[in-house]
Amino acid sequence: MAIKDLIENENNCQNTKVNELYLSSHLTYGVLCSIFEFVFKHFKVAFFVFIFFLFIYILYKSYWSPVFYAKELSEVGFNHIPKGKDRCLNIIRAQKGRRFGSKLPPPYPNGWFALVESRDLVVGGVVAIDALGLNLCVYRGEDETARVVDAYCPHLGANLAIGGNVCGNCIECPFHQWKFGEDGQCVSIPHTETVPKGISIKTYPSMEIDGTVWVWYDAEGRPPLWTVEDSDETKNWGYRGRNEFLVNAHIQEIPENGADVAHLNAVHNVSLLTDVGYKYPFLNNIIGCHNWSAEWSKGEMDHLAQIKIAHQYIIMKFDVFPINVTVHQIGPAHVRLRFHSPLGPMTIIQSVTPIAPLVQKVVHRVYTPRYNAILGAALVLMEAYQFARDVAIWNNKRYVSSPVYVKNDKTIRTFRSWFSQFYSEQSVSLKDALQNPLDW
Ligand SMILES: *[C@@H]1O[C@H](CO)[C@@H](O)[C@H](O)[C@H]1NC(C)=O
Ligand SMILES: *[C@@H]1O[C@H](CO)[C@@H](O)[C@H](O)[C@H]1NC(C)=O
Ligand SMILES: *[C@@H]1O[C@H](CO)[C@@H](O)[C@H](O)[C@H]1NC(C)=O
Ligand code: FES
Ligand SMILES: [Fe+2]
Repeated sequence: MAIKDLIENENNCQNTKVNELYLSSHLTYGVLCSIFEFVFKHFKVAFFVFIFFLFIYILYKSYWSPVFYAKELSEVGFNHIPKGKDRCLNIIRAQKGRRFGSKLPPPYPNGWFALVESRDLVVGGVVAIDALGLNLCVYRGEDETARVVDAYCPHLGANLAIGGNVCGNCIECPFHQWKFGEDGQCVSIPHTETVPKGISIKTYPSMEIDGTVWVWYDAEGRPPLWTVEDSDETKNWGYRGRNEFLVNAHIQEIPENGADVAHLNAVHNVSLLTDVGYKYPFLNNIIGCHNWSAEWSKGEMDHLAQIKIAHQYIIMKFDVFPINVTVHQIGPAHVRLRFHSPLGPMTIIQSVTPIAPLVQKVVHRVYTPRYNAILGAALVLMEAYQFARDVAIWNNKRYVSSPVYVKNDKTIRTFRSWFSQFYSEQSVSLKDALQNPLDW
C-alpha cells in the first residue's frame, strides 16, 4: 500500500473521530440542558430527592458501614510548613530537628496493649504486629481464641506471621512447616517422627475485650498484674466506627492530657465543627464553642484512675448541648470514655500502642445503642477533630521532666506519680530502645 493511502486512511479515521466527538458533545450538551430544565422546573421535588438520598446515605453510614478516619505521622501539626515541592522533605527536617527533652521515662510501661481489632482477625487469620520493641504474631485458632506469640521461628528464624498458616489451634511456619501448639511447644516437624524436646516459641498472655485483642507486656516477665472485664457497651451496643492517629510522642503524654485540666479550655474551646473560630473569634457566638471542667482522681485499685468531665456547648451564652463524660483509665494504655448526652449515651474505647519508642498508635472506637447510631457515627469524626488539636501539640512538643506546676496543674503532678507504677527496674530505657532496629 502506498504511503499516500495510509495517510488518507488516517485522515478518514480522524474525520470520523471528529464527527463522533462532535456528536457526543452535542448529545451531552442536550442531555445536560434537559436535566437542567427539569431541575429548574421541579426545583422543590429535586431538592427533596436530594435531601432524601442524603438521609439514606447518612442512615447507611451510621448503621451498616462503620466510619473510618485515619491520620499518619506527617499529617497533623505541620500546617506551618509551607506548600511546595519540598514540603515532605521539610516536614522530615522538622521531625528530625525536634528535641525530645531530657530524662524521658522508659518508652514501654508494663500493662495491656491493643494489637488488633477483633473484627480484623478472623478464625484462621494471622497478623504481624511490631510494637513495644517486639515482633509479634497474632493468630486466631479454630477454637476462636486469639493467641500472641513471638514472630520468629526457633528453627531458622522465619517470621511466622508473614506467610504462616493456622492449623487447628497451632501456628505453622511458612519456611519448613514446623508446627507450634497452644503453649508454644513444637508439635510437628515434616519427615521427622519424634520432635526433639525443648523446641518452643515464646507465647504472651493475651485477652480479648472491648472488641480488641490485647497483649500483656511486662519488663520483669511477671504474669498479668490485673485483668479487665469486657464492657457491657461493646457487647450490647453497635459499633459505629473508629478514628486512628499516629502520634510522635512518649506514651505518657497521651493519658497525661486527661489530668491536664487547664488545656481543655485552651485547646478544645473552639467548636469541633470547624476551625474558623480561631480566625474569626466573633463567629464563636454563632457556631458555638465549648466550655469544660474536669476532675482527675485515682481509682479504687492501683492501676485505675478516673476523670469526671462536664462539658457545655455554648451558643450566645446558652448551653445548648450539655454532655457529661466519665472517663476510666485502666493501666497505661486503655481508656473507656462514657458520654451522657441529651440524645443518649455513647462510649469511646481508647487504646494507645507504642509501635516505636516515641511513636504511638492511638485508636478510638465508638459504640452506641441502636437509636443513637447517627450521633455515634458523627462522634467518630467530631472527636477526631478535637483529638487532632492535641496531636498537633504532641507532634511538636518536648518532654519536660520537672515543670513549674501552678495551682491548676496539681493533678498533672499526681498523674505522673500514679503513672510511674507502670515502670519497673528492668524497664527498657529510651536510650536502649532507640538502638532497636524497629526505630523509624
Ligand atoms: C479559647 O481559649 C483561648 C485561650 O485561653 C482564648 O484566647 C480564646 O478566646 C478562647 N476562645 C473561646 C471561643 O472561648
Ligand atoms: C464554664 O463552666 C464553668 C464551670 O462549669 C462555669 O463556672 C463558667 O461560667 C462557664 N463559662 C461560660 C462562658 O459559660
Ligand atoms: C451532668 O452532671 C450534672 C451533675 O452531676 C447533672 O446535674 C446533669 O444533669 C448531668 N447532665 C447530663 C446531660 O447527664
Ligand atoms: S524457619 Fe520455621 S520451620 Fe524452619
Ligand atoms: Fe486534649
